[in-house]
Amino acid sequence: MRVVSGIQPTGKPHLGNYLGAIRNYVKLQDEAQAAGGTCCIFLADLHAISLPHDPAELHSATLEMVATLVACGLDPAKTVLFNQAQVPAHAELQWLLMGTARMGWLNRMTQWKDKAGKNREGQSVALFGYPVLQAADVLLYQATHVPVGEDQKQHLELARDIAQKFNNDFASDEKPVFTLPDPFIPESAARIMSLRDGSKKMSKSDPSDMSRISLTDDADTMAQKVKKAKTDPEPLPGEVAGLEGRPEALNLVTIYAALGETTPEAVLAEHGGQGFGQFKPALAEKLVEVLAPIRNRFVELNDDREELDAILARGAAQAREMGRPTLDAAYTALGLVRG
Ligand code: TYM
Repeated sequence: MRVVSGIQPTGKPHLGNYLGAIRNYVKLQDEAQAAGGTCCIFLADLHAISLPHDPAELHSATLEMVATLVACGLDPAKTVLFNQAQVPAHAELQWLLMGTARMGWLNRMTQWKDKAGKNREGQSVALFGYPVLQAADVLLYQATHVPVGEDQKQHLELARDIAQKFNNDFASDEKPVFTLPDPFIPESAARIMSLRDGSKKMSKSDPSDMSRISLTDDADTMAQKVKKAKTDPEPLPGEVAGLEGRPEALNLVTIYAALGETTPEAVLAEHGGQGFGQFKPALAEKLVEVLAPIRNRFVELNDDREELDAILARGAAQAREMGRPTLDAAYTALGLVRG
């Protein structure tokens, strides 16, 4: 069992990252250990330069993300925790896979279409090639489980297609170069939407801070954001079918259920009939109950920048070793000569 996943160190990690992904990293870290496998979680700093960014902020945001992941329960003694920039094999393998990925495949990526909008010509080549780097990230380590939120599923299907084509074109059936990775999206991996618009995902790049709960928000800020969250005038229904056509109400119920590791059905059985004046304070309380301990640990860890740098350096050394055989095999399969 080899668990591999990444998170971009841009902006502040939010509730969607936690409930959609980070919480599952922590569960899989323990499962991998119990099964004698490995768990690798990395900060996708190379991906972060595909959009305009501030170099002065990237290092600091990277360390903050390490502090957040550890505060959420990732243990650097159990998980190989590192950033891509310290493991050059990610960028190298991306280039080797560029010959296999097809323009048409990348053109179909919904994230590319969303991020580029109407201005495709003005985007960086890195934004277009982004999913090829993501494929390199997981193929380099022969990943078997890739815990992600729903929004990354398409990128991982692309990684499978790239792996399959590379194996077909350059390797024998008996000795494939790459393992085909599986996106791992457990049912508990909730898709969390913006607090201002129930049809958009909660995102680090949304210009409105009120659209998301950051893992570093204090209790008052969280309560304010929940209070101001967009809703409708109807009370909560008794059953999930009654949430149809009510994306904001559905989102708040989904968040409540995910925080309590229960189902929307169970939440509605308890809170059905309540108006938002009653439900929102209950939700704020639940948020604080789950996130306050994480925030407290984050504040402690985030001060020790040297230790955070050291965690990344140790993880990167391990990752470089782990990735070497696959990178070598990819060079050899392509007939590239190295000294
Ligand atoms: P990123 O940094 O946008 O998000 C990190 C993880 O959080 C999940 N996520 C969500 N889940 C539920 N609701 C939301 N609103 C929400 N927003 C984000 C994402 O699905 C993701 O699992 N391209 C990736 C980073 C990456 C990667 C990889 C992931 C680079 N290489 C290789 C897996 C494997 C990204 O930008 O995630």
